[in-house]
Amino acid sequence: MRRTGAAAAEILLRAGGLVGPGVTTDEIDRLVHDLSVEAGGYPSPLNYRGYPKSVCTSVNEVICHGIPDSRPLCDGDIVNIDVTLYREGVHGDTSTTFLVGDVAPESVKLVQVTLESLDLAIAALGPDAMVRDIGRAIESHAMKHRLGVVREFIGHGVGTEFHSGLQIPHYHDRRLAIPLSYGTTFTIEPMLTLGSPEAAMWDDEWTAVTIDGSRTAQFEHTLVMGEGGAERLTVTEAGECAHDLVRAAVVSL
Ligand code: MF3
Ligand code: CO
Ligand code: CO
Repeated sequence: MRRTGAAAAEILLRAGGLVGPGVTTDEIDRLVHDLSVEAGGYPSPLNYRGYPKSVCTSVNEVICHGIPDSRPLCDGDIVNIDVTLYREGVHGDTSTTFLVGDVAPESVKLVQVTLESLDLAIAALGPDAMVRDIGRAIESHAMKHRLGVVREFIGHGVGTEFHSGLQIPHYHDRRLAIPLSYGTTFTIEPMLTLGSPEAAMWDDEWTAVTIDGSRTAQFEHTLVMGEGGAERLTVTEAGECAHDLVRAAVVSL
């Protein structure tokens, strides 16, 4: 899981390096596909429950599962790239929302707070971590900034299966007093919205958008529960990931 996670993180970093005005999400799909195969793996999304491409690219009001297409990214867009790599018998799942060119302050704030909410959720997981600690940390941070939390899509157990039975909601529910035991591998992938957190589905049966067309951002890591807390698996051997690129872009504004 650690090796596959690191390889997924490298691919997401390379994909992020391609993002810019004029680049199509099809070009990103092609790169992720080729890098996944070069890494000795397979892009998990391809043909997963009929999904047609190798990566999810979710632009602006797309919450998740956006299908790459021929539309060039525009100055001011935000785009989530969600990479899942299958290698050595396991999946590594990670995503980052990238800024395209000059992005309006309200959207930058959305992206920044969404990343912070993921970091706070990871930090909230101590030795006696429970599933509900995750949603509590994310929802309270979102509420502080008057942002919505999507409920329809959640984090999940991940390992030999892309999506195992373990469910990881990003909203607070105190009934989720479910211990995250040592060695559990799972994702946290909060989706926050500027407006309504309600989702609607395009007739392609994959693309999930906000019902009011407001913008939405997402960040995701695959994690493992260790002795003292959760450890990020979707980071490079040097401990880096594409989230760092966004952090750097946000502080330099
Ligand atoms: N990577 C997504 C997740 O975080 C799942 C994508 S499924 C696909 O769970 F079929 F759309 F690729
Ligand atoms: Co996931
Ligand atoms: Co994912």
